[in-house]
Formats: sequence, structure tokens, C-alpha cells
Amino acid sequence: MNKITKKFAVLGHPISHSLSPKIHNHFAKQFGIQIEYQRIDVDGRNFKKTLNELKEAGYAGLNITLPLKNLAWEVCEELSLRSQQTKSVNTISIKNGKFFGETTDGLGLIADLNLKGVALKNKKILVIGAGGASNGVMYDLISQCPEIISLTNRTISKSHDMREYWLEFAKEKKVTINVLGADQHIIFDLIINATSSSLDGGQAVLPKNLNGSFWYDMMYGQQTPFLIEAEKNKAKFSDGLGMLVEQAAAAFEIWHKLKPDTQPTYETL
Ligand SMILES: NC(=O)c1ccc[n+]([C@@H]2O[C@H](COP(=O)([O-])OP(=O)(O)OC[C@H]3O[C@@H](n4cnc5c(N)ncnc54)[C@H](OP(=O)(O)O)[C@@H]3O)[C@@H](O)[C@H]2O)c1
Repeated sequence: MNKITKKFAVLGHPISHSLSPKIHNHFAKQFGIQIEYQRIDVDGRNFKKTLNELKEAGYAGLNITLPLKNLAWEVCEELSLRSQQTKSVNTISIKNGKFFGETTDGLGLIADLNLKGVALKNKKILVIGAGGASNGVMYDLISQCPEIISLTNRTISKSHDMREYWLEFAKEKKVTINVLGADQHIIFDLIINATSSSLDGGQAVLPKNLNGSFWYDMMYGQQTPFLIEAEKNKAKFSDGLGMLVEQAAAAFEIWHKLKPDTQPTYETL
């Protein structure tokens, strides 16, 4: 490793499956930049200690994945507006001995939807799930000024809490935000599965008579029950691989001030 090689890592638990090193190395090659990018398995208990060790070791940036994004939000000394609102950090820049936190998940989702020709302005969107991933993209979804964002979740009380939390920002952007009623039959332009149900091959608790033009599963790497359902409905659909690549591109741009061409990386993966 020569003197100008900057050090980066992705932290999470588990982490062995992470494609982030491959993606960032692929981007770096485009610009002839030499980087070192590692996977580091760390749980919540050792997270802060590990962050400080990596700072001492001269790391320039860190990606944060499950289940540490909210903890990273707590730990960072400075936060972007998007991170403040979503209470989530997936990209840390280490500058002048301080941790600066940003979340690029929402940016990644919007960029991927744009690439797939899915418009959001004045559209009707359904978000299934009320965990870190769904809340993590709400700032960017609302910022696109859809007509309506409906929320639903297996534990429906969490959707109500989520609506309450995002209501003020939605009003500011003139976006209607509601919790999908059991008997409501809305034809959505976009349905986003932000649950982790696909992780164990389980089926998401879907509202009855779900109807949408484009179905997007944040999960990637497998034909999930959600996507099979989309196919049955003769809808267009996508998994979340593009979102993963685009969120990484946004992180790369923060660290290197260079915008990678994401398509070659997407195709390689
Ligand atoms: N493509 C990307 O770049 C990207 C980025 C971020 C996240 N993700 C993916 O997003 C997914 C969610 O992550 P997360 O951080 O939000 O997880 P999380 O905070 O643990 O939330 C899990 C959510 O899934 C719901 N759920 C779990 N099992 C379910 C089932 N069998 N049926 C219906 N709902 C179920 C939970 O509902 P309850 O509240 O009822 O428990 C909750 O809403 C993961 O698959 C993750 O890999 C992808």
C-alpha cells in the first residue's frame, strides 16, 4: 500500500455478505484511485470503540449497515439534515478527528427509480414496513413531492407512529401521508417493500387486492415472494440491487468528490 491509499470500511453484523468492498473498488478503478476497503464485523456493544480505533488508524470514511445505522446517528458529532430527520447514518466521513454522518439510502432509492423510469412527482406511493429502511428513505421520498404516501406494516401501530413523525415535513412539501386502511383499494403508481420479511424467505403481510404499476423490493439477490406477487399482478418490478449500487455511488461522491458511472458496476454484480 503506498502513501496515498485511503482507507475505508463497511461496518455491520453480519457483514460477510456485503458487496460494498466490490462496489467501491469498482468505482475507484474508474478514476484510477487506489483505495483499501474492508468489511468489519462489529455489534452494537463494540461499535463506538471500533469507530474510535478506526479513526486513530487513519480511516477516511466508513459505511454503516444493519443493525448499526441508528447507533451511528447517535454517535456522529455532525449530521446532515437528511440524517437528522431519518435518524440514520450509512456514510461517515472522518474529518479533523470528527465523525460526520450522512445517509445515502434514500438518494440511492430515488436514483435507481429514476434510472428505471419511475417518476414520483404527484404519484401515489405505498411503503410496506416501518423499520429502519422505510424511515431511512422517507425524507427523500417526501422531497420528490408525490401526491400521497400510504404506509402499512405488519405491526400497524408502527405505521401510525411513522405517519405522526413524518407529518410535518410532508405538510411542508404538500404531500398527503396516511396509513392504509384495511378496506382501502388504491391503485398505486409505486409499491415499495421495505420489510425484512424476504430475508428469511417469508411472505410480507400484504394488504388485500394490492394494485400497483411498479413494485420495488429493497431486498436484492433473490426472487422474493414480493416480486413473485408483482409478476402475478403483471406489474413491472425490481429488486434493490440498483439502490445498493446508487447509495454506494452517493457515498463515493461524498468521500472522493467524484461521481462514478454506476451502470458498469450494476452489470458486473
Ligand atoms: N437495497 C438496499 O440498498 C437496502 C438498504 C437498506 C435496507 N435494505 C433492506 O430493507 C429491509 C428492511 O430493513 P430494516 O432496516 O428496515 O429492518 P428492520 O428495522 O428490522 O425492520 C423490519 C421491518 O420488516 C417487517 N417485517 C419483518 N418480517 C416480516 C414479515 N414476515 N411480514 C411482514 N413484515 C415483516 C417489520 O415489521 P414489524 O414492525 O411488524 O416487526 C419491520 O417493519 C432489509 O431486507 C434490508 O436488507 C436494502
